[in-house]
Amino acid sequence: MIHARVAGTGSFLPGKPVTNNDLVARGIDTSDEWITERTGIHARHLAEPDVTSSQLAYEASIRAIEAAGCLPGDIDLIIVATSTPDCIFPSTATLLQAKLGITNGGAAFDLQAVCAGFAYALATAEKFIRSGSHKRALVVGAEVFSRILDWNDRGTCVLFGDGAGAIVLEASDAPGILASAIHADGSYNPILCVPGQINRGSVTGDPFLRMDGQAVFKFAVKVLADVAREVAEIGGVSLDEVDWLIPHQANIRIIQATGKRLGVSMGKVIATVSHHGNTSAASIPLALDEAVRDGRIQRGQKVILEGIGGGFAWGATLLRF
Ligand code: ACO
Repeated sequence: MIHARVAGTGSFLPGKPVTNNDLVARGIDTSDEWITERTGIHARHLAEPDVTSSQLAYEASIRAIEAAGCLPGDIDLIIVATSTPDCIFPSTATLLQAKLGITNGGAAFDLQAVCAGFAYALATAEKFIRSGSHKRALVVGAEVFSRILDWNDRGTCVLFGDGAGAIVLEASDAPGILASAIHADGSYNPILCVPGQINRGSVTGDPFLRMDGQAVFKFAVKVLADVAREVAEIGGVSLDEVDWLIPHQANIRIIQATGKRLGVSMGKVIATVSHHGNTSAASIPLALDEAVRDGRIQRGQKVILEGIGGGFAWGATLLRF
């Protein structure tokens, strides 16, 4: 039987941190106290105007490939989860493939599930590997959310940041990915969306992110708890046996409420939202890579990764690292 395991992780944040006080200095009607109390966010990274998701993805990917001990040419599948692609087409994944110099004819495509994008991409890549069709996948979350923020809307612009995270997932004899689950409920579309579209040469409709924050909060906590329980049950482990929980890094209060609902102490929860804000599809692999590189996550440990995003779409994976 073919299994899939994480061979290496990598991440990248552009430029210097932009603190809450830096936002105040830029003229946003907010305060460090308001943002910190409500979200736990102290800083985010904002890409320069000419930096794209594929460039951030490239930086994260070369780190993940190096950590995996393979070469770019060994990658035969690339999935990039992003809601802020470089352009309408070609896909960010093919642009990344070219940047990495991969010419082996492997598959490359984007996947759009907003902040659940990485959970969806990981669940998808795992199925390709386990089917035997592909041997080594590069799974990336990359975003420049600063491009779709209304900087006059203080209720949303302070929450998000730019960045990328990546993993190399490879075929193995021993199980790495133990269980995955992905879900969606499209009836929640209006609660969190960027409703605009490109139409005959111009943007029609609202091109910025719009959100009902309190509705998102309630829904997120419920489904993040439910889907963590679901993958634990499919994987045949109790939540007590899980070493680390890595929820989508949107807001420390959502992360804490999810941990509480699950009965998982914050000592077992990886939270990195304070220093990069909500980076959408990049948030889970950014948190994973940080915890792997600082030695918290060790080989053999059980980890649940989980995300929720616009749609709503949500999902989780239980893995043995
Ligand atoms: N600075 C100062 N004041 C602000 C700011 C700001 N940045 N933003 C809003 N306010 C004000 C509002 O104008 C309002 O003022 P008023 O009472 O005079 O009208 C007051 O603060 C309260 O506004 P609310 O929107 O009710 O604030 P709330 O307590 O709900 O907190 C927040 C807002 C932080 C967005 C909260 O709803 C939340 O955490 N929601 C979760 C949403 C989230 O994390 N989304 C991420 C994307 S979704 C995802 O990734 C799954």
